[in-house]
Amino acid sequence: MSTPSNNTYPTALDASRRFAVAPMMELSDRHFRYLARLLTRHTLLYTEMLTSNAVIHGDREYLLGTGEADHPVVLQLGGSDPAQMAEAAVVGESWGYDEININVGCPSDRVKSGRFGACLMAEPATVASCVRAMQDAVSVPVSVKCRLGIDRDDSYEALELFVREVADAGCEVFIVHARKAWLDGLSPKENRTIPPLRYPYVYRLKETLPDLHITINGGVDTWDDVQTHLQYVDGVMSGRKAYYTPGFLGRADEQVFSQLPQSNACVFDAQALAQVAREYAQYVQTWVDQGVKPSALTRHIVSLYHNVPGARLWRRHLSENATRCTDVVQLVEDALQFVLPAPGAQSA
Ligand SMILES: Cc1cc2nc3c(=O)[nH]c(=O)nc-3n(C[C@H](O)[C@H](O)[C@H](O)COP(=O)(O)O)c2cc1C
Repeated sequence: MSTPSNNTYPTALDASRRFAVAPMMELSDRHFRYLARLLTRHTLLYTEMLTSNAVIHGDREYLLGTGEADHPVVLQLGGSDPAQMAEAAVVGESWGYDEININVGCPSDRVKSGRFGACLMAEPATVASCVRAMQDAVSVPVSVKCRLGIDRDDSYEALELFVREVADAGCEVFIVHARKAWLDGLSPKENRTIPPLRYPYVYRLKETLPDLHITINGGVDTWDDVQTHLQYVDGVMSGRKAYYTPGFLGRADEQVFSQLPQSNACVFDAQALAQVAREYAQYVQTWVDQGVKPSALTRHIVSLYHNVPGARLWRRHLSENATRCTDVVQLVEDALQFVLPAPGAQSA
């Protein structure tokens, strides 16, 4: 196997591609991204998927609003009409997104009937047309997130053909969820667990097409996993691990980005996580003061503490009290009592 060669990064975006948090509908919203940024300076963050239609016709502040500190951040679009995708990409660029990504991996029925997501793996020419139209319309990079294949069309050769055709249209960055999708018969959730992970397909893709930037995704659970993948591909993307144990992200800068300026040098222990929780609580309070429901934002820190004494009580306190709460800073301070050693307690 060849080792990816790009150890020098022309742009900050290129550097950040080594590790990314996946697009996840209803999870990777701007508030989760704010939390993630408190934990890691350089990790590349993705929005939830937005349809091109929603971006063009919807409430843009609500859908596209993103904090200054979010960057580098990628807008993921769902759609298959090249002109509409180009129009949505222009809107995304004007809202400051650093890259526009096309969703060719989502297997839900809603997505299938709208002719976007994973079913587009059977239509490389359509994806290529979208890439061409979008790339002509914006100056930020356009990338594609795809699966290994769909249904019975799941050979390595079919994957390579798909990627070659889309790359010929000008796409240089691919994120591959290393399992195929069964479009008939499996729910989106099952499609994230049942089809087996086939990492060697993704490694082979990088070996065969070394000039492309290839990020691997699916089932990454530890920093050892990340380091192993990085021997074969350019980047690693984490979805569920990053969301359901956000403390994991607290090691990203030290593990992957230590050579970059402003990396978080500290590995996040209980005290450092408490600082993150406090800062996030201040942020939440500004939204609550504008009428946003606190639980919509506090849900993202419910699993900040994981597998440590008091984590269950931390979770319960936040879950049971967030809905009625008006003082989020106090709510978080109260919950922290369950996970922080009592003042004056001696460590063994
Ligand atoms: C709740 C949820 C929502 C998701 N939404 C999207 C999405 O909007 N776009 C997308 O490309 N993938 C989506 N995915 C798939 C993830 O981006 C990722 O490919 C998948 O979870 C596998 O990575 P993991 O094993 O690290 O979680 C979603 C996954 C989850 C769990």
